[in-house]
Amino acid sequence: MCLIPQAPDAKTVATEVPSETALHSLAALVASVLPQSAFVTLSGDLGAGKTTFVKAVAAAVGVHPSLVVSPTFGLIHLHAVCADPLHATRPTRIVHADFYRLAGSTDLAEIGWGDAIGEPGWVFVEWANRIADVLPPDRLEVSIEVPSETSRIFTFTSHGHGCHGVISAIHRVNTL
Ligand SMILES: Nc1ncnc2c1ncn2[C@@H]1O[C@H](COP(=O)(O)OP(=O)(O)O)[C@@H](O)[C@H]1O
Ligand SMILES: [Mg+2]
Repeated sequence: MCLIPQAPDAKTVATEVPSETALHSLAALVASVLPQSAFVTLSGDLGAGKTTFVKAVAAAVGVHPSLVVSPTFGLIHLHAVCADPLHATRPTRIVHADFYRLAGSTDLAEIGWGDAIGEPGWVFVEWANRIADVLPPDRLEVSIEVPSETSRIFTFTSHGHGCHGVISAIHRVNTL
């Protein structure tokens, strides 16, 4: 992980992830500080690494990577997270959605979105711009750019206060 310097009190932080292996330490860090209920949006071109990031964060809380695949056709996937007494703040469930094929937020009722996000847990949404008008004010935005075939630049922005700890934690790693 190689951080791009920013003010420690910023609500946004960008970090360069030079390889997919390096992505796992970033994902583990995010998983360790993400609140038990959190809404995370992911943006970036097709192939940028949105699904790969969700897979890595889910793996960090014990969800087998083979279960976390692109939900493009199913739109919404649900993963149960096993309780771990050593990690009491883990979520109990992960919702993973990909709205690339969704026309807009008016289609959400039809696919059962309200029920899917009605319980506490982590919600990851790829192509969340499709539902920009109904995004919760408290959320973490993850934007991925592709400088080369193997490296990625991840920019995290916290909207509201809930996920501000993620930004601070990434800054802290930079100063250790
Ligand atoms: N540093 C990296 N971080 C994330 N993915 C990477 C990285 N380097 C290469 N990749 C590859 O980029 C691809 C990202 O695909 P995917 O996660 O499905 O993209 P998206 O969901 O954004 O369409 C995967 O094949 C993954 O192996
Ligand atoms: Mg994807």
